Amino acid sequence: MATVLERNQAQEPKMSAAISARQVESQKVSAVMVATTPSATQLHRTAGIATARNLKKSYGNIIALNSVDLHVRAGELLALLGPNGAGKTTLVRMLLGVARPDAGSVSVFGADPYDGHMQARLGAMLQVGRVPETLKVREHLDLFSSYYPAPLPLAETLQIAGLADIKDRPYGELSGGQKQRVLFGIAICGNPDLLFLDEPTVGLDVEARRLMWAQIRTLISRGKTVLLTTHYLNEADALADRILVLNKGRIIAEGTPSEIKSRAMGKQIRCTSRLTMEEVQQIPGVLSVKADRNAFELQVNAAEPVVRELLQRDPWLADLEVTNAGLEEAFLALTQNHNAESKEN
Ligand SMILES: Nc1ncnc2c1ncn2[C@@H]1O[C@H](COP(=O)(O)OP(=O)(O)OP(=O)(O)O)[C@@H](O)[C@H]1O
Ligand SMILES: [Mg+2]
Repeated sequence: MATVLERNQAQEPKMSAAISARQVESQKVSAVMVATTPSATQLHRTAGIATARNLKKSYGNIIALNSVDLHVRAGELLALLGPNGAGKTTLVRMLLGVARPDAGSVSVFGADPYDGHMQARLGAMLQVGRVPETLKVREHLDLFSSYYPAPLPLAETLQIAGLADIKDRPYGELSGGQKQRVLFGIAICGNPDLLFLDEPTVGLDVEARRLMWAQIRTLISRGKTVLLTTHYLNEADALADRILVLNKGRIIAEGTPSEIKSRAMGKQIRCTSRLTMEEVQQIPGVLSVKADRNAFELQVNAAEPVVRELLQRDPWLADLEVTNAGLEEAFLALTQNHNAESKEN
């Protein structure tokens, strides 16, 4: 996978020397130093700080992005929500300038990120983060801080990322969740204006996840802008001002968390029945069915027509329950609806 670091090694000989000298073989993105960085006040006068227009990207016959438009507003937390393979990381990599679209345009702080002139204002935690195992946590932070013109003091980064207790430990000896926190620390240490967090909480336990959520909220309260990708509607709901739902390379929904939830909220029907799984699946309006012990669990948008059909097709139907779908089921329903629609077209 290409990285900002790799690309800048080609474009920024000084940086490349500094990096190779310290044997950084990072899959993580950090910024390179540039001469001028507008102040936070200037930043907040800029309405949209990252924009993508009509982005298209294919890998062979896989369409990773299909006519995607996106507008990140200063000071917001925008969540990109979508299942595996939806195109989230591809979109983030284009905004970072580490991948080029086949068509369309990207602008970050008014410039093409591929030119690299605004990299010092960006921080990123990419999904597949890798940094040298032997360096200690604080050495990583010192190194990455040195790429930025006005980094956070080390103590502050350690505190925000929850690394104070492990700052003298080599990265390679850390647990998966601790490594995630180091990568988060590296992403924020340069005090960037725009932060890309690609599934930052994967692998974290519940407490660590909540802690990172709180830290992300603190960054937003300090005027930073965050683009976060996640699979989890509850994570987007907990953090985001706005959510974009991406599925199969297309944006299929956009709105505030409550708008997305209300669009996604379906119902769950539970019952025991003499019908087969296939017969239940064929009932119009049934999005998905699974067998749970001797009962079926159906995801639907509207319960009444499906219940009517079930009762008509199976006079022995019993143990009927209708509940609101949980957040995860709701998200599934949203993407499955889109899949069904795209098959019809
Ligand atoms: N370098 C690449 N070469 C080939 N195919 C790629 C490459 N990068 C992405 N893809 C494909 O593009 C599609 C979108 O991938 P992407 O990584 O953007 O998804 P994602 O939404 O980030 O998924 P996940 O939630 O699993 O991280 C996938 O089908 C993936 O296999
Ligand atoms: Mg991804």
